[in-house]
Amino acid sequence: MAIRPRRSVLYLPGDNERAMDKARKLPADALILDLEDSVAPDNKPKAREMVVEALRAGGFGAREVILRVNALETPWGMADLHAAIAAEPDAILIPKVSQPGDIISTAKVVRATGAAEKTRLWAMIETPMGIISSREIAACGADPENRLACLVLGTNDLLKESRARATNNRFAVVPWLAMTLVAARAYGLDVIDGVYNDFKDETGFRAECEHGRTLGMDGKTLIHPSQVEPCNQVFSPTDEEVSWSIKIIKAFEQPENAKKGVITVEGKMVERLHLVMAKRVVTIADAINAKSRIEEPWF
Ligand code: COA
Ligand code: MG
Repeated sequence: MAIRPRRSVLYLPGDNERAMDKARKLPADALILDLEDSVAPDNKPKAREMVVEALRAGGFGAREVILRVNALETPWGMADLHAAIAAEPDAILIPKVSQPGDIISTAKVVRATGAAEKTRLWAMIETPMGIISSREIAACGADPENRLACLVLGTNDLLKESRARATNNRFAVVPWLAMTLVAARAYGLDVIDGVYNDFKDETGFRAECEHGRTLGMDGKTLIHPSQVEPCNQVFSPTDEEVSWSIKIIKAFEQPENAKKGVITVEGKMVERLHLVMAKRVVTIADAINAKSRIEEPWF
């Protein structure tokens, strides 16, 4: 799977025209045009038309555009899915995935309708059953026919369903985040952290971004434009990480190290597994730099 930065993944309600216009100028790596929880039932058909039109109009540059549909078993799900497939987004985000069948049945429709090759499936993990089944859900990624690329934590739904609280560094939620994360990694998928509701609290937001990054998340889902820049900062490799990674790559390129499994760089033990990590850091940093060149002016 191609490595691409998914640091900042911004939700916007599919019936909010202003937000969709604004999003075309925000430095978010990805945008989720939402037809599900942020759209009231009476507005669902209208929102569906609006997101299809937004995708047709384009103008999203290098940002990945993802369409979140309603679950297939809802009155809107099937119409959303068909509209999404025809609109050719980068991905379709399936809400409340609780078992592998939710991915497999959606993937069947995607294949049967001849969806664009680029359209991947993303899965929301946001129910207790989704957490318990996260391994089997992530395992759908092993079959390329399922097109599964990314798991997205839905922490608000998890708090609702579990009755847990998100206080004290989210200690109640961390096991579920970590389970989803290792399930994703076991099958080569990306994984994106849940949202931070108090969008005026930048200090708390940054701390939660750091928390997610420390857990291993690729990025964070966002609800407001003000969260994009701090999120990008936290989830980008730092200058120190990039320069250290380059040192590791160069050290292993030395002829005397060509056959070595372990070497010393600046007094620290470095193994070949660190070389793999270093290459990923540099690839992500390059992709971020390339993006900012294409997208300029971002702001
Ligand atoms: N994406 C893009 N633009 C957004 C945005 C978003 N998620 N949220 C707000 N904006 C825009 C507004 O349209 C407004 O634009 P304007 O200056 O051109 O008028 C500007 O940013 C400032 O918005 P602000 O007044 O601070 O926020 P608000 O009170 O209008 O909206 C929310 C607050 C939380 C309702 C809104 O941010 C939102 O709908 N977020 C997404 C919610 C969502 O999708 N949830 C589902 C997943 S959890
Ligand atoms: Mg949800």
